[in-house]
Amino acid sequence: EEAMKKKIDIAFFDAKPYDRQYFEKTLKELAYDDIEITIDFFESKLTASTAGLAKGHQVVCVFVNDKITEKVISMLHEYGVELIALRCAGYNNVDLEAVYKKIHVVRVPAYSPHAVAEHAAALLQTLNRRIHTAYNRTRDGNFALAGLVGQDLYGKTAGIIGTGKIGKILAQILHGYGMNVLLDDLYPDEEFAKSINGKYVDRETLYRESDVISLHCPLTPENRHMINDESISLMKKNVILLNTGRGGLIDSRALVDALKDGRIRGAGLDVYEEEDQYFFEDWSLAPIQDDVLARLIQFPNVLLTSHQAFLTEEALGEIARVTLENVRQWVVERKTANEVCYQCTTINGKEKCTRQETGVCWS
Ligand code: NAI
Repeated sequence: EEAMKKKIDIAFFDAKPYDRQYFEKTLKELAYDDIEITIDFFESKLTASTAGLAKGHQVVCVFVNDKITEKVISMLHEYGVELIALRCAGYNNVDLEAVYKKIHVVRVPAYSPHAVAEHAAALLQTLNRRIHTAYNRTRDGNFALAGLVGQDLYGKTAGIIGTGKIGKILAQILHGYGMNVLLDDLYPDEEFAKSINGKYVDRETLYRESDVISLHCPLTPENRHMINDESISLMKKNVILLNTGRGGLIDSRALVDALKDGRIRGAGLDVYEEEDQYFFEDWSLAPIQDDVLARLIQFPNVLLTSHQAFLTEEALGEIARVTLENVRQWVVERKTANEVCYQCTTINGKEKCTRQETGVCWS
């Protein structure tokens, strides 16, 4: 019976101790009887110079800051890699046009939307009440309150851009605080809006009326730098801006300028447009070369976390489970429930994606 098992090798890039822990534990728990999965964990990110590590593996598993460029894709294709398993939800780091009809790409559409929404709420609360400043002060024996004045969130207005899984949960949390919630999405869900007394408005109204603005849409070529000089100029001077979506949604230079001019009350950032250089690594002993990043972390009213919004026990377990299921489904059933392709993600794609009829995006 053992001989009937399909064997599959995964090259796992950008592996951290917690990834390894949860993937090994989950693989054991799943105890598949139709497939034998071996995982080789590599600490390196996937780049053209490390892609060679994927030789001999049918599956490559990557995270948010591995760049799946045309060059990397053609190397993986040459090595016979059949599947790229993203262990994240976003897929802006994949050249979907280049990978189309070469290698299938699957992702984990939702591991814990609660983890991300709750992190956004934590950033908001910390910034608003200056908990980070208070924490440092009291540890230093400084019990003064000057400069720690916050605002009641109750009765204020929050604007949520992108009302998918995460945006909706944050909207519910903020509604729970007693905030008025304004919503923005390409595909409004009026039923949902009603359930939280919220309202879909045009983007400009959202910018003008919100005391808190939080970004929860995916990064696409159309919305890159949607938060820029112009949009910031429409916002209230006291706005708190939250980004747990993708760094590229914000023009960071424009944000720095606005912070310098005191035009923003606070920014809570879990993502940064040039984060792949720094995030997930210890740079505490090296000088930061990125002047925009260095400037951002210097502001007392900026809270920057290192793309950790997803980082809960529940989410890590779910990422491992869904990724391994994605691999099993592809290898054993030749189907891909969680595939993304150039057609199904391109609104004006000329060809239609075949996933609904065939169970795979292309074959
Ligand atoms: P989702 O797919 O459920 O929701 C995204 C929503 O954004 C959809 O309703 C979509 O219609 C809308 N949308 C797309 N383009 C838009 C635009 N230009 N303007 C307004 N709305 C637009 O995705 P989910 O799970 O809520 O995640 C949202 C994003 O959060 C992901 O794309 C990912 O980039 C990011 N994320 C960040 C994590 C972190 O650890 N910081 C973890 C997980 C996701």
